[in-house]
Amino acid sequence: MKARVIETNEGIQNEITVDAFDVFARNIRDKGWNGVDSMIASGIKGGNVLEVGPGPGYVGLELAKKLCLTSLTGCEISPAMLRFSEKNAAEYGISAHYVLGNCMNMPFRDKNFDAVISNGSLHEWENPILAFNEIYRVLRTGGRYCITDLRRDVHPLKKAMVYLSTQPKEMRPGLITSLNAAYTASEITELLRHSDLRSATVSSNFFGLCITGEK
Ligand SMILES: C[S@@+](CC[C@H](N)C(=O)[O-])C[C@H]1O[C@@H](n2cnc3c(N)ncnc32)[C@H](O)[C@@H]1O
Repeated sequence: MKARVIETNEGIQNEITVDAFDVFARNIRDKGWNGVDSMIASGIKGGNVLEVGPGPGYVGLELAKKLCLTSLTGCEISPAMLRFSEKNAAEYGISAHYVLGNCMNMPFRDKNFDAVISNGSLHEWENPILAFNEIYRVLRTGGRYCITDLRRDVHPLKKAMVYLSTQPKEMRPGLITSLNAAYTASEITELLRHSDLRSATVSSNFFGLCITGEK
């Protein structure tokens, strides 16, 4: 297994990449591959939900469509992505609240949320332990979290299959750099052990990993 190669510590900022990412994330949503079903299966039920690294916002917006949320908040490091999440929330007719911020130091009070979700963002976090501690801090006691992401140890055949089906084509190199930056389940289990989310359950699936638990 090759070592991780860091992709970014600043999120996705470039306007052209953000534009293409919106189209890509829309395709993933339409295929039902964006982790929403895993989040619901993990016990996320609604209430005041925080999405970490929402990007164009489809994951939280789909969750809000499927569950009855009291509120949907997003914490996103990229101003360019925030413009898309706000536009997409308006298109869904959902009044989500997106905040510019870094998940390693989130601008929210302690115990502010009933649930925290995140998809495809973990491999970009500069210090996942700090982010896990922040997720724990902003969750109320008994609140649930579900963090899904790619995993680096995915089988090469699956990698090739997903690479070739990735649209728009200009996102294909980004898929590979994201996979190279992603963690394996055992690496993430080790990081979690050093964080406030140490009681989390980690599982691997077809193309990624899923971290779930309760505060
Ligand atoms: C690959 S995108 C995934 C977007 C979306 N969750 C999805 O599944 O389509 C990762 C997102 O996480 C954001 N991000 C990366 N590091 C972050 C951080 N430290 N704090 C908040 N957001 C971050 C990026 O800017 C980007 O919008």
